[in-house]
Amino acid sequence: MDPLQLLGAHRSIRSYRPDPIPDADLDAILHAATRASSSGNMQTYSIIVTKDAARRDALWEIHSRQDMIRQAPVLLTFCADWNRMVKWCRARDAEPGYDNFLSFLVAFADAMIAAQNAAIAAEGLGYGICYMGTTLCAPTKLIDFFGLPERVFPATTLVVGRPDEDPDLRARLPIDGIVHDERYRDPGAARVLEVYHDRETEGWNRYMSFPELKAKILESGVKNLSQVYTQLKYTRGENEELSAELLEQLVRQRFLSEE
Ligand SMILES: Cc1cc2nc3c(=O)[nH]c(=O)nc-3n(C[C@H](O)[C@H](O)[C@H](O)COP(=O)(O)O)c2cc1C
Repeated sequence: MDPLQLLGAHRSIRSYRPDPIPDADLDAILHAATRASSSGNMQTYSIIVTKDAARRDALWEIHSRQDMIRQAPVLLTFCADWNRMVKWCRARDAEPGYDNFLSFLVAFADAMIAAQNAAIAAEGLGYGICYMGTTLCAPTKLIDFFGLPERVFPATTLVVGRPDEDPDLRARLPIDGIVHDERYRDPGAARVLEVYHDRETEGWNRYMSFPELKAKILESGVKNLSQVYTQLKYTRGENEELSAELLEQLVRQRFLSEE
């Protein structure tokens, strides 16, 4: 398929058939992931493939019981990883200086770019994918579950499998609300409302179409889409709690020091 057509046809898939992914296809997806650009070509990431049903069940629990984790045959967990590189440096009498926040960001970016390559390759082969943001909500459990050593950190997870649904494309904000010409133009309130105009209706209607979410919205008394985000989906309390856990685990994995 034409690459622009492929990118333009992307939808996250949240319902999967159990059909296994043939090794040749999985190999092609993983190969595409490793062909991604990476900082200094250091490839500071690792990809953990999970197919085993019992281990997928355990990951379903860790990932807030998102059912697609149990349905899809393959989960790919992308980790920021300096462990391999540091060991190589030490074996070659080179002293690594990669136990710091910059190195974490470099490896995290590498992992995410590799993940997106895998996602596009999978879609090109006719599979569906969905990212699991819950990877960042459960760093402690995932580090223990996968036995991640120091200098390795879970970045994101991709669910991959044959789609069992055919959802519509989800709308995006207008491009001219996102792209700036030469200099950043800070939008005023009126311009921001213009940029979000269609999203406010589309997003609200979508959330109200899920019976569980609709009940939560009605019960909570939230009045608009931005309140759904701030009061129900991504709250300050939860964000602060998860940030504290992430910082603690970054110390544990030696990307940040304790002070
Ligand atoms: C980093 C990241 C984490 C995500 N986490 C989840 C998730 O945990 N569960 C989910 O259902 N969708 C998740 N998504 C999918 C987004 O909700 C989806 O990309 C967005 O709503 C746009 O829809 P589309 O991908 O179908 O165009 C995630 C996407 C990204 C990029």
